[in-house]
Amino acid sequence: MKNELDDVLKILVSEEELDGITTRIAAQIDEDYGASEYRVLLVAILKGSVVFLGDLMRKIKTPIEIDFMKVSSYGGGTKSTGNVNIHLDLQRADIADCEIILVEDIVDSGRTLSHLVEYLKLKGARSVRTCTLLDKPSRRDVDFKANYVGREIPDEFVIGYGLDFDEKYRALPFVGVLKPEAYEK
Ligand code: IMP
Ligand code: MG
Repeated sequence: MKNELDDVLKILVSEEELDGITTRIAAQIDEDYGASEYRVLLVAILKGSVVFLGDLMRKIKTPIEIDFMKVSSYGGGTKSTGNVNIHLDLQRADIADCEIILVEDIVDSGRTLSHLVEYLKLKGARSVRTCTLLDKPSRRDVDFKANYVGREIPDEFVIGYGLDFDEKYRALPFVGVLKPEAYEK
């Protein structure tokens, strides 16, 4: 039987650490939104953030709603934060009474989230904040800081816990680094 574990060079964020991260961020979100009179809406960016969303939302005590967006960012321009294609938009028209928390797997260049924050504010969201499991601050093209960060990591390509390489490895329960050979498979 094929086993994706065989392709893993090392574990970077263990299941235990991931559990601690979602517990901590859920408590922060409860503290910040527990008294909100508006609808609190977690918007997960497909597909990489679904595992993080699933764990996080079950630990948040504040009543929340969820929705999804699918985007692709493409590099290129140096100053623009506009190089983001939206493939799937929010499935609701009116977000004026929504306090949105964007849920992302990893912030790399910063383009995706900085663009989406502006986009959702222009669309009329009551407020927009961002939550990312992982952050690679050394890779930024645009000035961007997420409101909730699980953990900063060095500039290494990571997989697992939702993150993929070529659509593989998303179901691994930890965040890890692949063996170089795995990229040639
Ligand atoms: P950016 O911040 O706009 O560059 O976009 C970040 C997106 O790039 C994430 O949502 C991931 O889909 C992808 N990405 C960046 N680094 C990694 C990685 O190490 N593993 C898997 N996906 C990554
Ligand atoms: Mg992504």
